[in-house]
Amino acid sequence: MASGAVQREPIAIGLLGLGVVGSGVARTLLEKGESYAHQIGVPLTLRRVLVRSREKQRPLSLDPSLLTTDPEAILADPHIAIVIEVIGGERPAYDYIKEALASGRYVVTANKEVMAKHGLELLSLAQKVGVELLFEASVGSGIPLIAPLRRDLLANEITCLRAIINGTTNYILTRMSREGLDFASALAQAQRLGYAEPDPANDIRGTDAAYKLAILASLAFHAPIAPEDVYCEGIEKLAPKDFRYAQELGYAIKLLAVGRKEGERVQVRVHPALLPQEELLAKVDGVLNAVQVEGDLLGRVLFQGPGAGPLPTTSAIMADVLEAARCIVYGASSRPLCFAPAIAVTPISELVTRYYMRLTVADRPGVLAQIAKILGDLGISIASVIQKEAHESQQTAEIVIMTHPAREAAVREALTLVERLPVVVEVGNLLRVEG
Ligand SMILES: NC(=O)c1ccc[n+]([C@@H]2O[C@H](COP(=O)([O-])OP(=O)(O)OC[C@H]3O[C@@H](n4cnc5c(N)ncnc54)[C@H](OP(=O)(O)O)[C@@H]3O)[C@@H](O)[C@H]2O)c1
Repeated sequence: MASGAVQREPIAIGLLGLGVVGSGVARTLLEKGESYAHQIGVPLTLRRVLVRSREKQRPLSLDPSLLTTDPEAILADPHIAIVIEVIGGERPAYDYIKEALASGRYVVTANKEVMAKHGLELLSLAQKVGVELLFEASVGSGIPLIAPLRRDLLANEITCLRAIINGTTNYILTRMSREGLDFASALAQAQRLGYAEPDPANDIRGTDAAYKLAILASLAFHAPIAPEDVYCEGIEKLAPKDFRYAQELGYAIKLLAVGRKEGERVQVRVHPALLPQEELLAKVDGVLNAVQVEGDLLGRVLFQGPGAGPLPTTSAIMADVLEAARCIVYGASSRPLCFAPAIAVTPISELVTRYYMRLTVADRPGVLAQIAKILGDLGISIASVIQKEAHESQQTAEIVIMTHPAREAAVREALTLVERLPVVVEVGNLLRVEG
């Protein structure tokens, strides 16, 4: 209890946003704000909530006097000590966070886009002012990831991060894999169930996962990594047959976010990948998220749980709010980030990994020899080939080639040459193999 507490007054909180997450946070503050005094010595009170529309029907009935459409009613209120930002998007969220920090408020945010693009600047501002900017909910919702990377794993040199950090795409890929649905049908199902936004571009193109990887990789490798440093490929090109062939070969297909330390450089990439079925990450299905971290002391550790939803996200936000309140009540100091000024990022062309290639070719002798020659000339060695689904009427066949580790630039060059062969109808898909 707060025997040595400096502050005895309740801590007033301003909430920016009352949507899916904001409603969960508001409800929790109203229901449990008093009882948090058992943990931090003073109660927490919800003082004002920013929304776009005061008239909108909301699932949560709040005292209307709490609602405002004027951000200054929160940002300029001298009683508010903690601002929670759950508006989302880059602007005006970034401006509000900056203004709140500059005026000495502690800020808690769930905003991956702002943290990925402006995190370092905002964290430096918080440090300069002597407050905290906390962002546990920005990656993996309620799964503890940011705090472990900032504290519990600090003694490790982290060599690798591999993550499934977008629930929407993981749900779509799970449906495609289990039910043989094509991409469009699986996406439509995800939208019907509310797992995908009406405009799902950021999820299916991998942008959302790239924001989250930029945040995690910056913390893991102690250097600023921007979203544009992350190589990014989405899931739109995957076909049901890729899942069938992958399964036959002993793999699952996942949208993976990978951060890997290689000497003084790092790889940071988001793309669909074949993962051996026996790996724990390959078994993370539906809307679940999971992040596997490898450190030199700890070895491998896996964090797994719900990567979205109002209550899991509220869990992470309220933990940050309690941490901020603890700092305010006890005068505890902040935990500054110690980052190298920069780190080199390996271009994707230099990646060395195994590849899965699906090609449609003329169904006649000698075709494979022509393809194998192109691959061989570029130093790409074939590990296995399977021939599938000959279309007798079109006299074509589908072949799937698995390579030994090869350099991405060579693989891309080889595929350009292979595509030009008269016997090749189409290069169907190229996927990287992880693990
Ligand atoms: N949903 C999840 O499961 C989840 C999980 C982890 C992290 N997050 C993050 O949490 C944040 C919020 O997500 P959400 O799903 O709660 O979003 P949401 O349901 O769209 O809610 C956004 C809220 O912000 C308000 N708002 C938006 N723009 C505003 C503006 N310019 N001025 C004032 N108010 C504005 C909206 O007001 P009105 O209600 O009046 O329209 C709404 O209440 C995002 O950064 C998201 O990435 C969400």
